[in-house]
Amino acid sequence: MNALEEIKSRFAVALAEITDQPEPLLAMIRPTQDGKFGDYQANCAMPLAKLLGKPPRDIAADLVAAVDLSAICEKIDVAGPGFINLTLKDTWLTGQLAKALPDERLGVAATDSPRTVVVDYSSPNVAKPMHVGHIRSTVIGAALANIHRYLGHQVITDNHLGDWGTQFGMIIYGYKHFVDADAYRQNPVAELSRLYKYVRVLMDYHAAVRKLPEAREALEKMQLALTRVSATGTTDKAQAKKQKKDIARLNEKITAQTDVINGLGGTIDKVSADDALLAAANAHAGVEQAVLDETVKLHAGDEQNRQYWDEFLPYCLDDINRLYTRLGVSFDYILGESFYHDQLGPVVDEFLQRELARESDGAICVFLDGYEAPMIIRKKDGAYLYPTTDLATIQHRVAEWQADAMLYVVDHRQGDHFDKLFDAAKLWGYTDVEMTHVSFGTVLGDDGTPFKTRAGDTVGLEGLLDEAESRALAVAIEQNPNLEASRQKEIGRVVGIGALKYADLSQNRSSDYKFSYDKMLALRGNTATYLQYANARVHGILRNMNVTAESLRAHPGEFVFSGAVERQLAVQLLQFSEVLDDVLVDYKPNLLCNYLFDLAQVFARFFDQCPVRDAGSDELQLSRLQLCDLTARTLTTGLGLLGIEALDRI
Ligand code: ARG
Repeated sequence: MNALEEIKSRFAVALAEITDQPEPLLAMIRPTQDGKFGDYQANCAMPLAKLLGKPPRDIAADLVAAVDLSAICEKIDVAGPGFINLTLKDTWLTGQLAKALPDERLGVAATDSPRTVVVDYSSPNVAKPMHVGHIRSTVIGAALANIHRYLGHQVITDNHLGDWGTQFGMIIYGYKHFVDADAYRQNPVAELSRLYKYVRVLMDYHAAVRKLPEAREALEKMQLALTRVSATGTTDKAQAKKQKKDIARLNEKITAQTDVINGLGGTIDKVSADDALLAAANAHAGVEQAVLDETVKLHAGDEQNRQYWDEFLPYCLDDINRLYTRLGVSFDYILGESFYHDQLGPVVDEFLQRELARESDGAICVFLDGYEAPMIIRKKDGAYLYPTTDLATIQHRVAEWQADAMLYVVDHRQGDHFDKLFDAAKLWGYTDVEMTHVSFGTVLGDDGTPFKTRAGDTVGLEGLLDEAESRALAVAIEQNPNLEASRQKEIGRVVGIGALKYADLSQNRSSDYKFSYDKMLALRGNTATYLQYANARVHGILRNMNVTAESLRAHPGEFVFSGAVERQLAVQLLQFSEVLDDVLVDYKPNLLCNYLFDLAQVFARFFDQCPVRDAGSDELQLSRLQLCDLTARTLTTGLGLLGIEALDRI
């Protein structure tokens, strides 16, 4: 048991006397931010004061008297309005360190209530090149899977590929009309990707041509409304205020609509400026419908389209697998949407039979409380939809894998889809399984809008990895000009990929974040680069002292705290286990990043103030070396759980 669990379990006994809902109160026991207030703080006296009608300080005093923490705490104080400050015993800390030192798991216990957790992550729509948006799901999902596994849960990772959607209609159509046979023979993936983009351009062009007049009309209406609102004179204060507000709102709408029109205009101009492209667009005026038709044919079992799909899919998979290899991620299962195709009809039938869904305008809909629009599971034309596949997927994951929890690591824009999906699944009977949308924000460029290339295209993931690696290589060369080129390259790879992953993981996942190579590769600050260099530095200390980690672990001595900073490092090291528990509460890997950053900073202070070579006594030197070893292992293990490699030497 870690310190926090130990403290909570003792408090639980005392709180059970007072309330039958101790959980929220126990959650108020936290590590302190400032060592002045001890190591942990319990703030539960304040809410209890209301409940019991007693001053919080008295309640705090009663709790202190009732809680038996003599085995682990040196001191328990009541401070301020009723904070309970707990200070751990040095002997308890050194005892825990001595246990962690020889332990492979650094003293982190596995859970005593393991669950079967399915992590649905990455899940790109194949046949389109992977882009910057895919990095978030991939790295957050992988980290959550690693941490669950490390804590003893049964984890099943599943890449729910979009391998059955319109994008295949697009490449089938593209292949039929535009393939460059030589290029396809030489590099099928590149040619398919070109075809996808080409058909996309044609489709977007026609859509823009269709939408532009409506968009202009809407703008004119807004402008008219603005003129009307601005022209009305009024002396009434309240009315003038409302008028001002209306004008501001209309101006905002006009700006947004102008952007839409400019966007559409840009799409049209791009094609019009290129004679060959324009000719192709004109010759394929029906491309949008034709693509849908090809998709419908594929789903209906059309032999030729099925053959195309069988031929194309492995190429698409090769393409994404190359990226997964570079990112060091893998999956237990890759069950794409196509896997569930045969189960969609039966799912809809069951919903109908059990009257969980009904027909509305020819479509089969699940009406759910609290939503304006129903969830459509079969369209009027008989086509099944994304939610239908997701329902079949839930059924599969529970029946085949006995999932206790399913985590969907997917863009926040799909929030509405998952809200409805989970409600529909509960209606269907899946009430005992946790279903969580682990949503995340958008990757932004410098200007605060979604990260795009200068030409306005989405940023390809492959190019991103290349750039991160080459910039990291430049840093590695600068830091170590005399190192062998192959070593420098390896460092560039580990540091570059690590930086990219960490930049993403260290953000609160719900927020958008600004992508910046310079920031992510900074040698100082909360970056993987800083942590990787810190880790290598600790290894350097052990190397310089000619001690091997094995010898340190084989002969554990007594840990000694000669001052506050060693003790602080000890507390921080022992909180590793607590932070991993914390990550899983709201599925937030950034808490582990913050922890590792804090650890590296405490270590830097320790290194500054506590000489190892000139420790003054063998005992103190050994203790300090052992703290170094624990720090390096915690950094390496923590980074590893985040999916980031660490090197002993940089
Ligand atoms: N393929 C989807 C997309 O790219 C994400 C799938 C997420 N997983 C799921 N079970 N719906 O938007």
